[in-house]
Amino acid sequence: MASNSNMANVNGRENGEPVVKRPRDNVPPDSPLRSSKEPVNKVTVVLGAQWGDEGKGKVVDLLAMDADIVCRCQGGNNAGHTVVVDSVEYDFHLLPSGVLNKKAISFIGNGVVIHLPGLFTEAQSNLKKGKGLQGWEERLKISDRAHIVFNFHQAVDGIQEQQRQQQEGKNLGTTKKGIGPAYSSKAARNGLRICDLVSDFNVFQDKFRILAEHFQTMYPNLNVDIDGELKQLKEYAERLRPLVTDGVYFMHKALTGPSKKILVEGANAALLDIDFGTYPFVTSSNCTVGGVCTGLGVPPSHVGRVYGVVKAYTTRVGVGAFPTEQDNETGALLQSRGREVGVTTGRKRRCGWLDLILVRYAHMVNGFSAIALTKLDILDTLPEIKVGVAYQVDGEPLPSFPANMDVLTRVTVEYKTFPGWCRSTEAARSFTELPSQAQNYIRFIEDFLQVPVKWVGVGKSRESMIKLY
Ligand code: GDP
Ligand code: IMO
Ligand code: MG
Repeated sequence: MASNSNMANVNGRENGEPVVKRPRDNVPPDSPLRSSKEPVNKVTVVLGAQWGDEGKGKVVDLLAMDADIVCRCQGGNNAGHTVVVDSVEYDFHLLPSGVLNKKAISFIGNGVVIHLPGLFTEAQSNLKKGKGLQGWEERLKISDRAHIVFNFHQAVDGIQEQQRQQQEGKNLGTTKKGIGPAYSSKAARNGLRICDLVSDFNVFQDKFRILAEHFQTMYPNLNVDIDGELKQLKEYAERLRPLVTDGVYFMHKALTGPSKKILVEGANAALLDIDFGTYPFVTSSNCTVGGVCTGLGVPPSHVGRVYGVVKAYTTRVGVGAFPTEQDNETGALLQSRGREVGVTTGRKRRCGWLDLILVRYAHMVNGFSAIALTKLDILDTLPEIKVGVAYQVDGEPLPSFPANMDVLTRVTVEYKTFPGWCRSTEAARSFTELPSQAQNYIRFIEDFLQVPVKWVGVGKSRESMIKLY
């Protein structure tokens, strides 16, 4: 018989390894680590599958109605998520869209970069719009490990964009919310975190001055009101303290305690991901599924369903290659019918046909369980609808989505053309109520991606999201 001396036993130990006695006496009495029968709660994730603005906010709002915890795990207030409830249009940038559910806790995880004036202004402006935000501070928790975006990070974002324009003739088209500079500080290990702000303010202000001066040395034109910003931050620190929590322990308790529905709201999108997106025309965080684990402290085994939000056509804000872009009447029609204007910056979004090569690539990275297909109604008036199904470069087919932006700018797209349905889908509330041409369009997407479409959006409201199964 073959020796099995190198095989791991059921506990994952190699034969012969000593049993490690855990010092369970050091575990606090209320810790879920003490329980031998730990319920395993799975996290449901909603992610953008294109270049953002797919309608993630709306999908999250829908799922958040029976969630216990709704989390943001990455990005900052570069995101702009719109939710329409009772004809009131709320827009969220840092707050999870689930904050509208008064029974749920909203959680901003360690992977998020937080501009505090932005957070409080956002809450204030939504409070004025309707009743949805009432009591928001009582149901918000913020990870002590989240990094802070300072006003000078935002100013530096603007200066860097100017420099790119001057030196390279083009910028990235960032939202100028300080996202790149704040994540740079985090990676350079001189960033400041929420735990620094709510601890000893004297220590915090010394570190803040050093960081501000560091940027002033790099950018001599940078104007920083150090004392003014510190005064404001001190006030925010008081208001923030009750909301701050040990994010890892918070998530751990939620995951291993009594059954809880946990929802994660992705910001930005797969093609804006710092690793997998159209680099360098991307944001500075991981907007794909890995960002959920690193941005919240969630072990991968707890990630359950991953829903990809796909707009029935494609849009992009800012600069960068866009193979299916329609810089013509079709693009203009999608832009105006779809009201494609950035929630964060007010910029017009570039528009084009649905690109399934790109969505399939997003699926490779994220492993979508199902898709929420939004804004189908925007295609209602088109006599003909195209979908990008293959890329070629120099006459050769490309097997997947290219890393190199020069290649992406040169691809020619092969399209499949569908007859339009030329009637309104807005009142449809079931799959069978959709015109047969629209049904075929949806079935084609499912077949191409080999992922089921679970919801189809035919309007802005909660009710106009058709559930297919
Ligand atoms: P997010 O960033 O992914 O949350 O998306 P945004 O909120 O930036 O942009 C999506 C826009 O489309 C918002 O104005 C939504 O209200 C709107 N929207 C979402 N789903 C639908 C839909 O199915 N039909 C229509 N007409 N509008 C939708
Ligand atoms: P939501 O969550 C659309 C784009 C910017 C720019 C690039 C880098 O609403 O889908 P940044 O300010 O992040 O450094 O900008 O990324 N971008 C988005 N575009 N929707 C978003 O978020 C975006 N977040 C960042 O336009 O091109
Ligand atoms: Mg948006």
